[in-house]
Amino acid sequence: MSGPPGGRGETALPETLTRRLSSAARLVFFTGAGISAESGVPTFRGAGGIWEKFRPEDLASFEGFRKNPGLVWEWYRMRKEIMSRVEPNAGHRAIADLERHYHVTVITQNIDNLHRRAGSSVVHELHGNIERNYCSGCGAYYPDDRLEADGEGVPRCVKCSGMIRPDVVWFGEFLPEEEWNDSVGAARWADVFFCVGTSGVVYPAASLPGEAKRAGAFLVEINTGPTDLTPAFDESLFGASGDLLPAIVAVADSLSPRNMRKN
Ligand code: OAD
Repeated sequence: MSGPPGGRGETALPETLTRRLSSAARLVFFTGAGISAESGVPTFRGAGGIWEKFRPEDLASFEGFRKNPGLVWEWYRMRKEIMSRVEPNAGHRAIADLERHYHVTVITQNIDNLHRRAGSSVVHELHGNIERNYCSGCGAYYPDDRLEADGEGVPRCVKCSGMIRPDVVWFGEFLPEEEWNDSVGAARWADVFFCVGTSGVVYPAASLPGEAKRAGAFLVEINTGPTDLTPAFDESLFGASGDLLPAIVAVADSLSPRNMRKN
């Protein structure tokens, strides 16, 4: 396991990882809230995390929404507002930049759209996207600028009057089937599988590193500290993703052109 010895751009990677990167064609990045922390999006767990202040069953379950849709919408309006103001950081941009050298797939648990905004071309969103909404009655989709709230602050469907909800996955709900199947396929296809900024405690998403490992991938964790999944990794790099991911780009650049993207 290694920590970053220096600041941005000075981080040395373990030799085993550099060797893997020199022969890899396909990289998968499985990301969580930690990668967006440096953009100013709060994480869920740990000091100052969202679930320290709020109960997930009140704000992130259909039962909570049914009981108090106004409260849930108040919370999601606040989150939409935060996420509309933030920008991708050096970590998101580094992952997009690696497409110059590798086939890159992003699997994210984040709903903030920052990977796409950073330029990543293949992004599987396992927990939805805060920029979309749909009617819980008839399934019709609504962009944010077409939401008209009732007296309780709950947007209603113009077709069926059903309550509109954000297009995010809540506790107890299934993951979107196509995104999940594509993610399992990508995990099995990876030469190197990176887990970045996730505590790895929410399933089924957290089963993807095991899936990748069983199919032969080299497993790398990037996190500010150890997680429940740390013992399963081939390498764990402890530090900020905004420092460590650009270091991976620097190594990939130094390996070029031998390691240029293979078609
Ligand atoms: P968590 O909040 O559980 O974990 C964030 C992880 O990021 C922690 O392990 C931190 O140590 C790490 N971290 C924080 N800052 C970092 C940085 N700058 N660089 C690298 N790592 C950093 O977030 P998730 O694992 O994404 O689900 O949570 C998974 C799911 O639980 C979320 O998608 C959400 C939540 O409840 C739903 O809402 C369904």
